Amino acid sequence: MRIIVAGGTGVVGREIVAAARARGHEAAGMSRATGADLQTGEGVASALRDAEVVIDAVSVATMDAETSTRFFRRSTQTLIDAARRGGVRHIVALSIVGVDRNPHGYYAGKVAQEEAYQAGDAPFTIVRATQFHEFAGQVARQARFGPLQLAPRARVQPVAARAVAEHLVTVAEGAARGRTSDIAGPREEELSAMIRAWRRHRGERGPVLTVSLPGAQMRGMRQGLALPDADARVLGPSFEDWLSAQPINAGRAGR
Ligand SMILES: NC(=O)c1ccc[n+]([C@@H]2O[C@H](COP(=O)([O-])OP(=O)(O)OC[C@H]3O[C@@H](n4cnc5c(N)ncnc54)[C@H](OP(=O)(O)O)[C@@H]3O)[C@@H](O)[C@H]2O)c1
Repeated sequence: MRIIVAGGTGVVGREIVAAARARGHEAAGMSRATGADLQTGEGVASALRDAEVVIDAVSVATMDAETSTRFFRRSTQTLIDAARRGGVRHIVALSIVGVDRNPHGYYAGKVAQEEAYQAGDAPFTIVRATQFHEFAGQVARQARFGPLQLAPRARVQPVAARAVAEHLVTVAEGAARGRTSDIAGPREEELSAMIRAWRRHRGERGPVLTVSLPGAQMRGMRQGLALPDADARVLGPSFEDWLSAQPINAGRAGR
């Protein structure tokens, strides 16, 4: 089956391309780096040529609700229109557990993305996952100011991006279902402690300050709004086991 991964150069996108190929599918990533821009539409139709399934793993690095909403509305509509024109039979979209309980900041855009799929005319399945183990590194990079590392507090139950990727490929192989079970990792963790452990693993030095970031999205995460419900599907490994298997000095651990 030919699978195109929108955002295929990102943290989870790379894993999806690899997981799909490992299952014997013909898979390719699509992003600005490969000449397809979901904001302008440029290069999207040709990237989707002969695609049977699209997996949507695009993202924008922002905590601003308006920026996020504008980005996801546009990228989702571009994908829906191109998929319909190209005869794609199924779009699998990756969302985040609890976004509708906490529709602020970046998550406002994820809610808009889900709504666009629900209102659109392309067959879709939305899978919500919790934060990735790799999220510790993503947040750490954004919260570094010279030698000072901020470690924001949040309650999370993280899952490995690779496990999410394998699950998404399984969903992609099936029929469009609208919405399917949420997925989560095996244990609740404190994000600030994950960031400290991630830095220790990489041998990074310097001051680390645990902080409560302002804003409704991070407040909601401290209150546990990003934690999965009891019926979520749990996928290993734990953060600790995942981290100990990451290369120590590759400079890319956690990506
Ligand atoms: N990170 C987490 O913990 C987490 C947890 C659960 C769900 N998710 C969801 O998983 C998805 C992927 O997240 P991620 O953390 O893997 O993202 P990421 O590493 O930031 O990657 C984002 C991807 O989007 C592409 N992209 C950005 N702007 C684009 C544009 N205008 N046109 C085409 N492609 C564009 C980027 O490639 P180019 O720069 O080459 O365009 C990149 O491949 C998101 O929907 C996110 O909400 C993330």
